[in-house]
Formats: sequence, structure tokens, C-alpha cells
Amino acid sequence: MAKIKVGILGATGMVGQRFVQLLNGHPWFQLTELAASERSAKRAYREVMEGRWKLGHDIPEYARDMVIKECAPGLDCRIVFSALDADVAGPIEQAFAKAGYVVSSNSKNHRMEADVPLLIPEVNAEHLRLIPVQKANRKWKGFIVTNPNCTTIHMVIALKPLMQLGLSKVMVTSMQALSGAGYPGVPSLDILDNVIPYIGGEEEKVEVETLKLLGAFNEKGVINAAMAVSASCNRVQVSDGHTECVSVKLDKKVKIDELTAAFEDFQPLKGMELPSAPLHPIVVKMEPNRPQPKMDRDTEKGMASVVGRIRECRVLDYKFVVTGHNTIRGAAGAAILNAELMKVQGYLNP
Ligand SMILES: NC(=O)c1ccc[n+]([C@@H]2O[C@H](COP(=O)([O-])OP(=O)(O)OC[C@H]3O[C@@H](n4cnc5c(N)ncnc54)[C@H](OP(=O)(O)O)[C@@H]3O)[C@@H](O)[C@H]2O)c1
Repeated sequence: MAKIKVGILGATGMVGQRFVQLLNGHPWFQLTELAASERSAKRAYREVMEGRWKLGHDIPEYARDMVIKECAPGLDCRIVFSALDADVAGPIEQAFAKAGYVVSSNSKNHRMEADVPLLIPEVNAEHLRLIPVQKANRKWKGFIVTNPNCTTIHMVIALKPLMQLGLSKVMVTSMQALSGAGYPGVPSLDILDNVIPYIGGEEEKVEVETLKLLGAFNEKGVINAAMAVSASCNRVQVSDGHTECVSVKLDKKVKIDELTAAFEDFQPLKGMELPSAPLHPIVVKMEPNRPQPKMDRDTEKGMASVVGRIRECRVLDYKFVVTGHNTIRGAAGAAILNAELMKVQGYLNP
């Protein structure tokens, strides 16, 4: 099978470099293009990334000598994975979709548009049926599919199996890693020995994206889930991995064992053999002091949401903690998994 050519928009950022790492040796996708701003364009990736590559190992050999291009249609690929700064992502992603590319985006710009899928394959695969609606509405040859915010995604994966128990209220307090702010991100003197109780726009994203993700597709659009979500988001001095304390109200009262089983049995993609899909999207830790970002963020190669401390809540009904990798499952890995689902469902056919 010939591999599908893919490119990365915003290849030099925190999420962009994760794409470079995760696409190395991908069985279905071949990275043929790297693109970023005009500041980086026309230079070799290894040269631009000197001092900016933050992933611990060297830049993969296959990408080192690739020459960065500007983010404009004309790239030699079928899919572009977008890790663009939200200040510029909107019109650039639209230009690619208009020109016939499949855009799989991390950026917030198009997530809440009514005809754009906001996708987590394990949660709302049927929302991909918005693609023909989007193409008809916009008269585009290509289309845009988005993945959620890095905090939203881990919480919503954990909430999905609770929908069958009548989930009606959610309260979440996040402790979010520094890599979520891009590079150089939060100044060291602001975050060392500190917690910052504000991340601009984050709480709103968690609150509205959750309703769309858990909503139902009715052939024309998505009807938001009928529930209340309240989020408080904090930046903490952790390098990678967001941790969230979640309380939920459920119509059905269940034993803690049943709740634990609902998390553990959640395997909606079983048998589909998507290369980036975790075997267990939710991994439950029974130790009383887990999950922790340092120990649990790389579970299932960073693609799992790790749940623990499942217990009763005196205000709502139940509470738990979820931790997950913010630049893998929360960003680049999510967009790649979305593209894998699009492929098996035929959306990448010419
Ligand atoms: N970090 C996370 O955990 C995370 C999780 C989920 C979603 N996201 C979203 O993913 C996107 C990227 O985040 P990040 O953390 O990787 O940001 P980042 O490290 O700041 O990287 C931003 C990228 O955008 C490029 N860029 C900036 N201005 C541009 C322009 N005018 N034209 C073309 N390219 C331009 C930069 O290229 P140059 O190097 O050439 O300037 C760089 O490659 C954001 O929209 C963010 O909200 C991030």
C-alpha cells in the first residue's frame, strides 16, 4: 500500500515537533513537507530547531535536512496536520481546505463551527459525517477536522463511558503542564515555586467543547449534550501531562466497582487496528496516589487517559482524577489518530 503524503503546518513549535516525532516510521503516512512562518522558511529543519527541539532525543534523522516551507497551498501532500499558532491558523487552514487538502488541526479556530467535526475517535466518530455537510456549505474541495483542547480531551474520554449512566453535571479543576503554553511559554520566574490560577480562554474551551463532543449528530449538525460543565484551569510547574480533578453528577447511582468497570471496559475502537489507537483509551490505576503526570503520562505511548482515585463525592455523586499527555493525546497524537479514522472510513479517498 502506498503511503499517504502528509505535511505539518507549524512544524517548529511544541506540537509541531511532536508531529515530527510521532510520524517517524508511521505505517500509513509519509511526512513530505514541513512548514512554518517566513522566519523559519527556506532553512533546514535541524538548523531552525537548534535549541528549540525539546523532546529529549535528537531530531529524527528523516526530518533533519528537510527544508521548511511557508504555510501556503502548493505543498506536496494530501493531509496537512496543523500545529499553528491560533493567531494565524484560521485563514491558513481555510486556504488549504479550499485548495483541496485535508486539514487535521490542533488549533482552536474552527473547533466550534457548526459544520466542522470536533473529533475524538473513541467518543464521537459519527461526527465525521459533518464532512460532506461542510464541503457542501463551503464549496471546498478539501475540509477541516479538529481535535479538542488538550485539557478537554482527557476529561471527555473519561466522561464518555459515564454518559450511559445519565451524566448531567461536571466540575473540573485542572493542573496543566508548561508544554501546553508552547515555547518559550510561561516565564520561569512566574512559574517556579508557584501556581498560576489563570490560563486565558482555557476554561471556556473546556466548557463548550465538552458539550459538542458529547453531543449527538442528527444528519445536519451536532446537538450539544444537555449538561452543565464548570472548569477551573491552573498552570503548574510540570513539564508534560495535564492532571484534572473531576466531580460528576449521574442520574443512575452505581457502586464504585461498577464505575471502575465502566472506565476499564471502554474500548470502542477495538478491532479497528488504527496504528495510533491505544488498546485501552482509559487505564485505571488503583494505587491511592495515582495518577501522577510524571509516572503516568506515557501510558500507551502517551495516548491513554489515566484515571484513578474513583470515589464518592459529597457535593455531586462521584469524583476521580484523570492525567494524560498534553502534546501527544492532547495534541499531535490526537490529530494523527483522527486522520487514521478518516482513512479507514474512506474520507481520504480522492
Ligand atoms: N502545546 C499543547 O499542549 C497544545 C495542545 C493542544 C493544542 N495546542 C494548539 O496547537 C497550536 C500550536 O501550539 P504550540 O504549543 O505548538 O505553539 P508554539 O510552540 O508557539 O508553535 C507555534 C507554531 O506556529 C508557527 N507560526 C507562528 N506564526 C506563524 C505565521 N505567521 N505563519 C506561519 N506559521 C506561524 C510557528 O512557526 P515559527 O517557529 O516559524 O514562528 C510555530 O511553528 C496552538 O494553536 C495551540 O493552541 C497546543
